Amino acid sequence: MKKILECIAEAIKPAFTDSGYDEAYARVTLSNRPDLCEFQCNGAMAAAKAYKKKPIDIAGEVVSRLSSNPMFAQAEAVMPGFINLRLSAGYLADYLNEMEVEPKFGLEEKGRGETVVVDYGGANVAKPLHVGHLRSAIIGESVKRLGRFLGYHMVGDVHLGDWGLQMGLIIEELRDRKPELVYFDQSFSGEYPKEPPFTISELEEIYPAASAKSKTDEAFKARAQEATLKLQRGYQPFRAVWRHIMNVSLADLKKNYSNLGVTFDLWKGESDAQKYIPGLIEDLENKGLAYESQGALVVDIAQEKDSKELPPCIIRKSDGAALYATSDLGTIIDREKELSPSRYIYITDKRQELHFIQVFRVAKKAGYVKEDTPMVHVMFGTMNGKDGKPFKTRDGGVMRLENLVAEINDAVYERIMENRTVSAEEAKKTAGIIGLAALKYGDLSNQASKDYVFDMDRFISFEGNTGPYILYTIVRIKSILSKYQESSGNTDQDARILGAVSETEKNLMLQLAKYNEVIETSFGDIAPHKICQFIYELSDVFNKFYNSTMILKEADKERQGSYIRLITLTKGILETCIDLLGFEAPERM
Ligand code: ARG
Repeated sequence: MKKILECIAEAIKPAFTDSGYDEAYARVTLSNRPDLCEFQCNGAMAAAKAYKKKPIDIAGEVVSRLSSNPMFAQAEAVMPGFINLRLSAGYLADYLNEMEVEPKFGLEEKGRGETVVVDYGGANVAKPLHVGHLRSAIIGESVKRLGRFLGYHMVGDVHLGDWGLQMGLIIEELRDRKPELVYFDQSFSGEYPKEPPFTISELEEIYPAASAKSKTDEAFKARAQEATLKLQRGYQPFRAVWRHIMNVSLADLKKNYSNLGVTFDLWKGESDAQKYIPGLIEDLENKGLAYESQGALVVDIAQEKDSKELPPCIIRKSDGAALYATSDLGTIIDREKELSPSRYIYITDKRQELHFIQVFRVAKKAGYVKEDTPMVHVMFGTMNGKDGKPFKTRDGGVMRLENLVAEINDAVYERIMENRTVSAEEAKKTAGIIGLAALKYGDLSNQASKDYVFDMDRFISFEGNTGPYILYTIVRIKSILSKYQESSGNTDQDARILGAVSETEKNLMLQLAKYNEVIETSFGDIAPHKICQFIYELSDVFNKFYNSTMILKEADKERQGSYIRLITLTKGILETCIDLLGFEAPERM
């Protein structure tokens, strides 16, 4: 279905051409003065220069040809040359009636099956998921859902950090704790045990202990580095420990992501890129791109247009170890081979900006990715505490994701139980749904690149620009609909949306009509916050309509049926949008 702005532009094109002006001037935007009009066209101002006429005269000519068009309730030329427009109630109602019957409410599937890789999550195996990974998971899940809804073939890859120093640290810490394990017995030649030498809770304790130790104990750190290198070179006993770490940790990670409603199509990681690395290095050398610099192997990435000097990308360290960037390049080769995507989207903290500039430039310079394939790094800011510093636990530690989620759910639970109308059991379940919405909406409603303050009280509030407010609106509509069904016994299949009879109703209809534009722009700009803004405004106009309209007491059955269709559409759009953001609404709250 065409977007409403396109429909209006189409309609005013003939008014321009019939008056002798180019149709390119018939561009329409939302009004920036909603008190004066709903839409506006500034084309007469632009045409004035080209045709050497007064803008108001051009606007006047165009408007005179619109007066008989049933699409408009108002078409007015105002000084210095704006064309102010209001849609007729009937046209708007027709537009919504069409939306209602179209699949996906008339959204066009612009993606046409094009493959897009979204790299998000980025958890590090054996390290607990912390709030730093939260944003990547939340934003990435939404971007993936949005793209999929628009008809792209979205491939979400968690890209685990499963090949770094943490592995060496764990191995050496394990040696110190349990030196008797066969993995540390050089003379051992049998089969390695199937049972992991630790439980998930032990593993969770081993890594932080090892990491702390490496900060004070130089010898330990050196051992860990050595062990990491040995693992990376394929030393069998350490590979065996690595597999245990992976198995134990992955089960836990999957559980955590699934609690967040975050899923991945691929559970690949840095380790999967390793097999490409020797060939990659050889290729970069053969192409004359990689060269030795202070013992390391590097590729220059600086370009003339750069405003500051960018350091070369290090491909191999002087001790022979591959790096984060090398893994990312290997991963790109893998993705090209397996998926040949037409677009890449990476979602990480903005501190990784330089890393991705380097990786993208090497990938293009070496011809692994076509020059015109977009590679986008969506950089997000930090989630801060109320003190403006990165969010921490009350005692200053790193907040674990599951604890954060539990804290939110508890707070919501208490709020629900305050005006207790449901059983404790239902309240628990509902709190989980609302808590997730509070958390995700609190994050997604900010422009990703900005830092934001994690303000629990605000996030869980049922009023204001919050997830719970949106859910509350949906639940309110559900309740009206079920009351209507109880009293009238049907949902009136023949009802149609009629032209608005009040201002609040028209505002609701105008807002609904923006839907497909908003979805497309949110994906195009990779900006889920635009969906949040849209549904916040939609909830607001819906609630104003609700407060000023007696839906259930309406005596005119046709009018009542129209209201019911309208709020059903509102509910459908809200539910679609929150699904794209990655959460859902409860039945009651
Ligand atoms: N594991 C990384 C981290 O915790 C994030 C991975 C992001 N994705 C990528 N392809 N580098 O910082």
